[in-house]
Amino acid sequence: MSPDNRQRVLTVEALRVAYGGIPAVSDITFHVDAGELVGIIGPNGAGKSSALLGLVNAVRSESAQASLRGTDLRRLAPEKVARSGFALVMEGHQVFGRLSVRDNLRLGATARRARAGLTADLDWIHELFPILAEFADRPAGLLSGGQQQQLAIGRALLASPTLLALDEPSLGLSPTAVDTVFEAIQRIRERGTAVLLVEQRAQQTVKSADRTYVLTEGRLTMTLSPTDADDSALLMKAYLGS
Ligand SMILES: Nc1ncnc2c1ncn2[C@@H]1O[C@H](COP(=O)(O)OP(=O)(O)OP(=O)(O)O)[C@@H](O)[C@H]1O
Ligand SMILES: [Mg+2]
Repeated sequence: MSPDNRQRVLTVEALRVAYGGIPAVSDITFHVDAGELVGIIGPNGAGKSSALLGLVNAVRSESAQASLRGTDLRRLAPEKVARSGFALVMEGHQVFGRLSVRDNLRLGATARRARAGLTADLDWIHELFPILAEFADRPAGLLSGGQQQQLAIGRALLASPTLLALDEPSLGLSPTAVDTVFEAIQRIRERGTAVLLVEQRAQQTVKSADRTYVLTEGRLTMTLSPTDADDSALLMKAYLGS
């Protein structure tokens, strides 16, 4: 194994997703290395969610390679993908509304590979999102959108993932809640979990990610670095195509 491969967390080669023969994701190739925060940005309908759903086999996909730390993800049932260390927080901060915050977090722990470290992880998540400790007994459905997003992320982290993938975590949140989410993502990465961040919020994503891929009409068209974040002409071109 080359030194390169040792550090690789997620390898995706020629991933395709189509609905009824109509392509949504066309041959995308990208990777996430250990310790990285990698962004994928693109407009509505670009194929961002389809790419994530295809990777976890929640929709049908094909690829030349899709592996997480050497585990072939292709043809694994979605729950097995989760158990292999790929945690996906889906669009729209999904939580179990009638269950308490505490029970929502408990559910996250069921996808852990090992119980070891559970208490430390829970303590860390409570420190990251103090609201989850404060409202532990509250039904999750009564939380604000921003608080539900914190819960959804906290639940995913309790699975102790190798890779945390987030589908538009800032969608529909207040500016303060968006900042909370972006700051938390930085801390999660600093603690050692690789992050794949799918967003429409281009500038903030490009600024915080080590590398950001631009997805338009199902294809990766550009790779941006943090220094590109203030180049609004480039971001505009990335979105609209040249
Ligand atoms: N279940 C589905 N059946 C048929 N077509 C779908 C389905 N889901 C998505 N599509 C289509 O696939 C394309 C990509 O959609 P997708 O939801 O992956 O984009 P997205 O980048 O996540 O967009 P958004 O930013 O709005 O979330 C779109 O043309 C969409 O209409
Ligand atoms: Mg989407």
